[in-house]
Amino acid sequence: MSQDSIAAANVAGASSSATGRGLWSSRWMFFLAATGSAVGLGNIWKFPYITGENGGGAFVLVYLACILVIGIPLLMTEVMIGRRGRANPEGAIATLAKRAGASRHWRKLGTMAVLTGFLILSFYSVVAGWALAYAPAAAMGSFAGLDGESSGALFGAMLGDPWKLIGYGTLVLLLTLGIVGLGVREGLERSLRFMMPGLFVLLLVLVGYATTTGHFGEAVHFLFAADFSKLSAQSVLVALGHAFFTLSLASGAMMVYGSYLPAGTSIARTSLMVALADTGVALLAGLAIFPLVFANGLEPGAGPGLIFVTLPIAFGQMPFGQLVGGLFFIMLAIAALTSAISLSEPTIAWLSEKFAIGRLKAVLLSGITLWLLSLGTVLSFNLWSEFTLFGKTFFDSLDYLTTNLMMPLGGLGTVLFTGWALSRTTVQEALGINHPQLFKLWWLVLRWLTPLGILVVFLHTLGLFG
Ligand code: PFF
Repeated sequence: MSQDSIAAANVAGASSSATGRGLWSSRWMFFLAATGSAVGLGNIWKFPYITGENGGGAFVLVYLACILVIGIPLLMTEVMIGRRGRANPEGAIATLAKRAGASRHWRKLGTMAVLTGFLILSFYSVVAGWALAYAPAAAMGSFAGLDGESSGALFGAMLGDPWKLIGYGTLVLLLTLGIVGLGVREGLERSLRFMMPGLFVLLLVLVGYATTTGHFGEAVHFLFAADFSKLSAQSVLVALGHAFFTLSLASGAMMVYGSYLPAGTSIARTSLMVALADTGVALLAGLAIFPLVFANGLEPGAGPGLIFVTLPIAFGQMPFGQLVGGLFFIMLAIAALTSAISLSEPTIAWLSEKFAIGRLKAVLLSGITLWLLSLGTVLSFNLWSEFTLFGKTFFDSLDYLTTNLMMPLGGLGTVLFTGWALSRTTVQEALGINHPQLFKLWWLVLRWLTPLGILVVFLHTLGLFG
């Protein structure tokens, strides 16, 4: 079906099942899926290490402010666009722009979001593969007796082995696309129904274990005691960028998940719950990880190696380390998989709706291209590590391009589209915020504060400001 005929079907008020698309079976399922998308490597791998690098509590506070001012309004906006447009991101924006009499070029924002998700998945799948590789290693006792040097060497050996990285990355892509290929109900819902509760149980078990280390209070203090002297302008920018990444914004995921949301669900309330769950998991991940770091006399500000170099040392020293380490990396793999699923769905929906091809064909086509692109990331850790573009490896360039350029630009475009191209009544009606004062505040934030906030980060990223 072409974009225009989807738009026409929507304008005529046809239900999404009439357009041949799926719908979540309930509001709860949407909540699970969107939380699954939001909770990922960003929460368990990145949040703890950037918090460590940026000094702890004060950074957490700034991050929470970013979630509130930029993350939540944008999340609501994206879910709303998806549900109103009932199509892939490009098709949904096209439909809304057409109804509002706005320029058809706005649809390019949707195309860019699909591309952003696609590019992120090409490297996200490789990093998710590390978690898959570390889970059996932890469970089989490979971390016993590791110290800083040998743990670094173990991680380095994995990164230096292209075949190993290709093998695990391919496994992640096969699992992701296998699930997505089965469709919204049969694939996504069925897998999320057991992966998400599993993820929460594992996280709680790990936090429970962390309370027994005797260093839990130290971790609480580290995460929640705000020392603003440790905060730099750069930290604020890191917090803002992370708010985008952790809530899966500007990459098509929340829009496409919103397009499967049944009518009648309050977008405002559900989005708020997703943001709360995502933030809760990030903080709990910190409370699971830092007590182990402190209990073993390790460094919280170790950077990206916190999970793959520092934690294995702790797992190798502590009681039940094999079990706890195995469970930890299984949890990380599940979290990454549910996010990878949401990163691929926008491309699948876009390909099958825009070019009127079957879902399976779309999965195959994107699978092959993703796999080829992921080789670039794999090789940037070994054979191509010397090959750089603007001083960055292939992996670093893709990460920079998507997280620092495409996400802020796409997010900015999306809030401008909603705040300035759509009418206030359309948005109020679509969001389901019934309280007039509350909506007024939300509208003000969305039109001014959110775009200004994004603009500041973006200009700073380009080095033009601050
Ligand atoms: N939110 C995910 C994480 O924190 O790991 C990453 C992500 C998923 C980003 C889906 C973008 C996206 F569309």
